[in-house]
Amino acid sequence: MATAAETHPDPYAAAKQVLSQIPHPVVIVGAAHGDERSCATATTMYVSHVPPMLAIAEHPGSRTTRLIQESGEFSVSILHDAQQELAVQAGHSAPGADKFAALKIPIVTQSFTKVPAVAGSIAQMWCKVRDTRPTGDHVLFVGEVVAATVNDRKFDALLRYRRRYMRMGHWTSEEAPEGYPT
Ligand SMILES: Cc1cc2nc3c(=O)[nH]c(=O)nc-3n(C[C@H](O)[C@H](O)[C@H](O)COP(=O)(O)O)c2cc1C
Repeated sequence: MATAAETHPDPYAAAKQVLSQIPHPVVIVGAAHGDERSCATATTMYVSHVPPMLAIAEHPGSRTTRLIQESGEFSVSILHDAQQELAVQAGHSAPGADKFAALKIPIVTQSFTKVPAVAGSIAQMWCKVRDTRPTGDHVLFVGEVVAATVNDRKFDALLRYRRRYMRMGHWTSEEAPEGYPT
C-alpha cells in the first residue's frame, strides 16, 4: 500500500532541495495603485545592463502582484542585514489599504510615483514594467530601472540561502577597474 508521502508528495520538494541552494538577495518589492499600497519580501536579478533592467517573480494571488499589474510599476529595496525583521514582516499579508503603514515600514518616495520604497535599505530602485509573463506558479515582471538611490556606506546585504537568512562574508578581490560592469 502506498504511504501518505507517496500519495501526497510535497509539491515544494524540488524548491526546498534545489532552488534553495541559490544564494540570493532579500528585497522588498513595493507597489501602489489608487489608495492602496503593499509590499512583499522577494528577490531579484538583473536581466539587462543597458538599459538597466531587473526581474522579479511574484505570486499571482498577492496584493503586491495585483497592484503591479494595475499600475505598471514597482520598487525594489535591497535589504541591509539589519533589516531582517522587515523581511519577516513583509513576508505576510497585513490588514488595511496600506501595508507599509500597517507594518510601520519606513518609506522613501519619489515625486513622479505613488510607489514607496523602504528607507534605510542598501539601494532603492523604481521600475516601470516592460514585460510580464506567467512562469509556473509565479508571474515574472521585467522592469526598467527609471530612478534609484544607493547608500554607498551600507554594503552588508541580507541574503537568503538554504531556507535561512544570512549575512554576507568579506570580499575576496578588489573592485574591478574595468571589464564586466557589475
Ligand atoms: C525570504 C522570502 C522570500 C520571498 N520571496 C517571494 C518572491 O520572490 N515572490 C513572491 O511572490 N513572494 C515571495 N515571498 C512571499 C511574500 O513576501 C508574501 O506572500 C507576502 O505576504 C505578499 O504580501 P501581499 O499579499 O501583501 O502582497 C517571500 C517571502 C519570504 C519570507
